[in-house]
Amino acid sequence: MNIRVFEHDMQAAQAAAFLLASQILEKPDSVLALPTGSTPVPVYKELAHLTASGILDWSRVTTFNLDEYLGLAADDEQSYHHFMHEQLFSKINMRPEQIHILDGMAADPEAECLAYERAIRGAGGIDLAFLGIGRNGHIGFNEPTEIMSAMTHVVDLTAETLADNARFFTKNQKQPTQAMSMGIGTIMQARQIVLVATGGGKARAVRQMICGSMDPQIPASILQIHKSVTIFLDRAAAAALKANCD
Ligand code: GLP
Repeated sequence: MNIRVFEHDMQAAQAAAFLLASQILEKPDSVLALPTGSTPVPVYKELAHLTASGILDWSRVTTFNLDEYLGLAADDEQSYHHFMHEQLFSKINMRPEQIHILDGMAADPEAECLAYERAIRGAGGIDLAFLGIGRNGHIGFNEPTEIMSAMTHVVDLTAETLADNARFFTKNQKQPTQAMSMGIGTIMQARQIVLVATGGGKARAVRQMICGSMDPQIPASILQIHKSVTIFLDRAAAAALKANCD
């Protein structure tokens, strides 16, 4: 694992944006996996800025989002479709057919997951998976579990994740308790992985991901055996790390 610690969260975000930008500059037809959450917001802002400056061209890029809530329509303000449109897709030059996000309203979610896997394979696999991490060590919505799911699947969200994400929902908005997520195997097949974690709330998960034994209860710990992982942290998220994981 290539671990870089920055003093401030904005520096970690900017470094991730630069890595994503170089991926697109080097391979204009890159296939990317993209996360949601608050961590990627400044990364997407920087990517939008690089696009507006004429540096980045997304016309041949393909994206697959990591996850979507089950039961939320694309136009629902709480859906990850909506989030992605607001934070990134409305600001860059991608056509709708280049963008893939699981359909939270699919009549048959299992079939939707299978079709998503096929679409990823059809696109030639993922060149770069950009990830955040949950406080419980989840990546995408791959929650702590006994046995990890390799492929895109339907997930029951844990109480911790529901509590963490409750901040995005108002009193009148019903928070889904299930989601669909790209599987651990699919993420691990990405040729390159970049993960960003910022803030003290992530310090424990970051330590477990990097220094703990590989454990399906800390899904991100599987990244230890990926051949090309870069982790960008701010000082707060790195607070529980010690030299050589002592
Ligand atoms: C969400 C997403 C994850 C994300 C995580 C952390 O539940 N499904 O992909 O990495 O939570 O979010 P945040 O960046 O807001 O802490």
